[in-house]
Amino acid sequence: MPITTCIFDAYGTLFDVAAAAQQAANDPRFAVLRENWADLAAQWRLKQLQYSWLRAVAGAHTDFWAVTCDGLDWALEAAGMDDDAALRQRLLDLYRELGAYPEVPAMLAALKAAGMRTAILSNGSPGMLAGAVRSAGIGDLLDDVLSVESVGVFKPDRRVYDLVGARFGCDAGEVLFVSSNGWDAAAAAGYGFVAAWVNRAGEPMERLPWTPAHVLGDLTGIAALAED
Ligand code: LAC
Repeated sequence: MPITTCIFDAYGTLFDVAAAAQQAANDPRFAVLRENWADLAAQWRLKQLQYSWLRAVAGAHTDFWAVTCDGLDWALEAAGMDDDAALRQRLLDLYRELGAYPEVPAMLAALKAAGMRTAILSNGSPGMLAGAVRSAGIGDLLDDVLSVESVGVFKPDRRVYDLVGARFGCDAGEVLFVSSNGWDAAAAAGYGFVAAWVNRAGEPMERLPWTPAHVLGDLTGIAALAED
């Protein structure tokens, strides 16, 4: 079945989630981050995701901004940096305006030129996603930005992936679903999407019951995959 619709995870896939800590580390006020910004970013991301999964399983939804703040607070305390309110605020402000990976605009433009429908499907709350799309300047290259907030549960709950068919009226087999999160790409494959895992960090394949159809090192090959 030909691909008609390309759906992108947001955080880590289009937007570089480590960029907030990296940028803050370049600010002389936050020199404390220079040595460990990458560790802090990794801990922050891990806790953010763990809290999203735990809340989904427990039926205790809150929006992704709250989960992002909770994850940061845990990571700052673990690093002994929880007494710096200005640092916390700066990291959160930077997270609201994350840049896109450099290849994103050209990749989306190539998909649009090929007649594909394009959208984000993300855990992010609508406000967070609007800010990131605006600061990356990619709004004109997306047909829609779908947030889990309309179903009130996080990925990989199937109700989230159902949003794509509900919005575009397409079969799962027409959808190329692109995520840098191995677990998201695997769950999307289990749902029936053609899944592409963008494995920038060269991580091992997730030990889950489903396997993405494609594995790439970055987003440059996505348009060719979609048109294949
Ligand atoms: C998202 C997270 C999972 O954007 O990266 O949905």
